[in-house]
Amino acid sequence: MDVDLMWWLTRSLFVGGGIAGAGLALLYTLQEKLIYVPRLPGLPNPYVYTPTRFGLQYEDVHFKAKDGTKLHGWMLYPQDWKRGAMRKRPTVLFFQENAGNMNMRLPYLRLLILSLNCSVFAPSYRGYGQSSGSPSEAGLKQDAEASLETLLQRQDVNPSKIVCLGKSLGGAVGIDLTAKHKDKFAAAVFENTFTSITDVAPKVLPFLKHLIGQGRPANWLIRNKWNSLEQIPKLQGLPLLLMSSLQDELLPPAQMQQLYKAVTASGSKDCTWVEFEDAGHMDAYEVAQQEYWPALMQFFKRHGLGQDHWDAPADDDIDDKEAYDSADESAEVIEDSQQQGNGLTHRAGAAAVQKAAQEPGSSVHVNGVSAKTS
Ligand SMILES: *[C@@H]1O[C@H](CO)[C@@H](O)[C@H](O)[C@H]1NC(C)=O
Repeated sequence: MDVDLMWWLTRSLFVGGGIAGAGLALLYTLQEKLIYVPRLPGLPNPYVYTPTRFGLQYEDVHFKAKDGTKLHGWMLYPQDWKRGAMRKRPTVLFFQENAGNMNMRLPYLRLLILSLNCSVFAPSYRGYGQSSGSPSEAGLKQDAEASLETLLQRQDVNPSKIVCLGKSLGGAVGIDLTAKHKDKFAAAVFENTFTSITDVAPKVLPFLKHLIGQGRPANWLIRNKWNSLEQIPKLQGLPLLLMSSLQDELLPPAQMQQLYKAVTASGSKDCTWVEFEDAGHMDAYEVAQQEYWPALMQFFKRHGLGQDHWDAPADDDIDDKEAYDSADESAEVIEDSQQQGNGLTHRAGAAAVQKAAQEPGSSVHVNGVSAKTS
């Protein structure tokens, strides 16, 4: 990538807008580093916990994206399942949030699997967890395709009971994949995701707000668009559950509402909206557990993916089990570092860029990559 050329281009476009110009050039150069956060500061990248620690059975699945990138995923299922149980129950294809690796999703995935009595396939995007490569929009889209193909080839997965579930960045990955393969999914669930990266960028880098965002002039600089608002109307006909935390500190809940409007305007009659008054970006399943889990379970049941004898696992049921004692401790460690790490990485990246943008000629380091403003 030619930084000087970029710099010249932004300069000539925004004469006089020095700060914004420098910010734009950096945004262009460091974009992948600013957007994707496979590793949280202070936490090791290798997995510290295995799913066994969380009372789950699992299989390591190794597969490849179309461009040859080596990917890793976990096939996760309840401890007490016998062979053959898997085909009877739905399989959730889970796309994770941005910051951190799949290790950190285990506390959530444990509850998901227990509540829905389902198996979960949890692939890691390229550059995340045990997958090789480095993240980009085009790359993650390939990874999602490969994940679905891998699932469809498995004998133990019922191809008519695959549900896509994506949170935050994973929502964008899931919306894109289901829009392209609507017929291969039984349903989809998206939680606290965004309308597009162009809409998110001005929130993370406020000094760019006049240049980037809906209808703004510099959107062409964003290579990683994740244009979910454009994709979601294509999901018309697929049962959808949209879940929105009203206290989301990272992404504006208004963007979830926009997605909901776009899909209902497309004529979709099968879109369920659930909102959680007091929950933030990552914690609806804990803070609003009394609404979160029943909403998911009812949605599954309504679409023939539930089972008759079926109650929400009470918190006590889960916590009482010996196997989960150590899991609870691990979950706490993970959740704490996640809460801190999430805000930190984005804020640190944004602050570094803003500072460098104000001092032309200075350099900036984000997630291990450096760039100079001129
Ligand atoms: C979960 O599903 C399996 C497979 O259908 C079944 O054998 C098992 O009894 C179910 N477990 C619960 C707790 O409902």
